[in-house]
Amino acid sequence: MTGIPSGKLICVGTGMRMAGQITPLAQSYIETADVVLGAVPNLFTRQWLQQIAKEYVCLLGYYSECDRDGKDRRDTYRRMSDTIVAEVRTGKTVCAAFYGHPGIFACISHLAIKAARAEGFSAEMLPGISAEDCLVADLGIDPGTTGMQSMETTQFMVYARKIDPTALLILWQPGLAGELSLKRFETTPDKLQVLVDKLARDYPLDHPVILYEAATNPLEKTRMDTVLLRDMPYAALRQATTLVIPAAHPLKLDEAVMNRLRALDAAALAD
Ligand SMILES: C[S@@+](CC[C@H](N)C(=O)[O-])C[C@H]1O[C@@H](n2cnc3c(N)ncnc32)[C@H](O)[C@@H]1O
Repeated sequence: MTGIPSGKLICVGTGMRMAGQITPLAQSYIETADVVLGAVPNLFTRQWLQQIAKEYVCLLGYYSECDRDGKDRRDTYRRMSDTIVAEVRTGKTVCAAFYGHPGIFACISHLAIKAARAEGFSAEMLPGISAEDCLVADLGIDPGTTGMQSMETTQFMVYARKIDPTALLILWQPGLAGELSLKRFETTPDKLQVLVDKLARDYPLDHPVILYEAATNPLEKTRMDTVLLRDMPYAALRQATTLVIPAAHPLKLDEAVMNRLRALDAAALAD
């Protein structure tokens, strides 16, 4: 007897593209778990999961609660996590499947793992291929070239953030820009104008930005539309859009740091 209760939770990511971007380990948990609970919006990926899982429970119905009074997205995520942990408590090996990476801009898996561990259950997360991984490949951008900032759009808007326009900036969920009620899944041109005005503190209005949507199946085409920053309020933004803002200025040397490093090298040579 180890004293560890028998239920177990593994949170996995299915990648962005149907079937092809899942790791062998994640797929094997989906195939062997007693039950798979999934929040996977892509119909084809969902059908594939339903075929390979012993039992599949779709969590997407919880999103309709956002339409009801008093229910915001945080309540919905909490209830999804509760549903996952309730299955773990019955002693089952439970696999929770999310598209992309299960822990990137995906709080349900973090909530469920924390709650399961707090009750003594074994709970772990396996990484998956995220939208950010796909955009690096599709757009040919190496985050190491300039460094990368990555944050949620509304968080960027409502908090005082220091943006570095010499580095790449990735804004997630621009399709929900400025949506404070947490009950709707859309933005408006007026709210996007607020976003543009805030970005204009650091970027010229004629700075080209990219609206990126990774293809989620072989028949879809990846969207990589370049628009000028000033035109963003009237651009078509969807829930799957990620906003990619390339660096607007070249990197500038920090002369004080450079001088100190040169002095250290010179001193080492003199020894
Ligand atoms: C709740 S987050 C989920 C992210 C996901 N867990 C991942 O690993 O990429 C939703 C946001 O991910 C991005 N996203 C989702 N699907 C996408 C796609 N097909 N292409 C590009 N970005 C996508 C968008 O910024 C979207 O608003």
